[in-house]
Amino acid sequence: MTGEGRVPLTPAACRSLVEAGHTVFVQKSAGIHSGYLDSAYQQAGAELVDDAQHLYGLAQLIVKVKQPLAQDLTLLRSDRILFSYLHLAADATLVQHLCDIGLSAIPFESVVDESGQLPLLTPMSQVAGRIATIRGASMLFRNRGGRGVLLGGIEGADAGRVVILGAGVAGSHALAVAVALGAKVDVLDLDEGKLRALQQQYPGITTHLSTPEIVETLCLEADLVIGAVLLAGRRAPVVLKQSVVKNMHAGSVIVDIAIDQGGCVEGIRTTSSEQLCYIEHGVIHSAVPNMPATVARTSSQALSSVILPYVQLLAGADLAAMAASESAPEQALYRAMAVHQGGVVDEVLQREIAF
Ligand SMILES: NC(=O)c1ccc[n+]([C@@H]2O[C@H](COP(=O)([O-])OP(=O)(O)OC[C@H]3O[C@@H](n4cnc5c(N)ncnc54)[C@H](O)[C@@H]3O)[C@@H](O)[C@H]2O)c1
Repeated sequence: MTGEGRVPLTPAACRSLVEAGHTVFVQKSAGIHSGYLDSAYQQAGAELVDDAQHLYGLAQLIVKVKQPLAQDLTLLRSDRILFSYLHLAADATLVQHLCDIGLSAIPFESVVDESGQLPLLTPMSQVAGRIATIRGASMLFRNRGGRGVLLGGIEGADAGRVVILGAGVAGSHALAVAVALGAKVDVLDLDEGKLRALQQQYPGITTHLSTPEIVETLCLEADLVIGAVLLAGRRAPVVLKQSVVKNMHAGSVIVDIAIDQGGCVEGIRTTSSEQLCYIEHGVIHSAVPNMPATVARTSSQALSSVILPYVQLLAGADLAAMAASESAPEQALYRAMAVHQGGVVDEVLQREIAF
């Protein structure tokens, strides 16, 4: 994917897999943008493979960061387990391809732990939330096409206004940066408990139960709107309508983190690390589906540490035996499976794409 530089497993993680008796193949230069040289993987006991074509031919378990692109799909085989971010609810074509290949696909973002959290999505949402505010703040500069607002107010001038749609992991991390900068922040969610907790942690912010009316009122006054909503496993709901965007301040900024699930701003188009944003109705739109790739080293370290225990379980695993396992992480992996032997096995996904 454009601008991608993350690697799902660091050399240290590979070493622990090798020590557990697994054979680990790593594509040459996979870690280079995260600062991990091929030699570090070799020292960890991994075997380097020239390209994806050879790699996918060798390994039973394919661990990737982002969903396979067209060139990867031709290389995948039916007897493989694919473990990566997949965001299938927003991509029925990819679902069809994976079904046609006949492999087993387990999306990172579908693994739910015993406390109901999404442990493999959380670190990337934390990173993306923080980047959203930093990027949004810089896009407000005049030379970037913004309305010339410094998010953190100074004496004698208004503080910038930030509206955050979604008080979950990404939203609360976007909030932490916005508060640190000194912005005036409104946070919206459907979950009163999350709003209450954030209000207690940051007494200076304002929280609201999300309704179309309050979204409109706040976004029309906003300098920066950050979209961070999620309905797990489903396409993102549209929270900010085009009719509102058209009337937002010229030079204001929208950063839609939820673009990986289809976006929560009506009609928003995917952007990339090369083309970070576009302007429509005078409003700057940014919707990069792999925001954490910008800080590849930080993101690779965080991702590797959360996925490693699951990779240890999946390496050499018998999926049928996992189904009957009493171990909570094994059950979590089995339940997260989206596609298996040519069919969609995740019921939420089945409904979303109406297969
Ligand atoms: N673009 C990227 O690079 C990137 C990286 C990481 C995560 N993400 C995405 O960011 C999004 C948020 O992830 P998260 O981990 O913070 O999820 P989360 O579950 O922690 O938080 C989502 C919040 O949205 C709220 N919500 C749902 N519908 C809403 C509505 N209609 N109005 C207001 N609030 C609503 C939920 O109550 C929840 O609190 C997801 O789509 C995730 O895939 C994107």
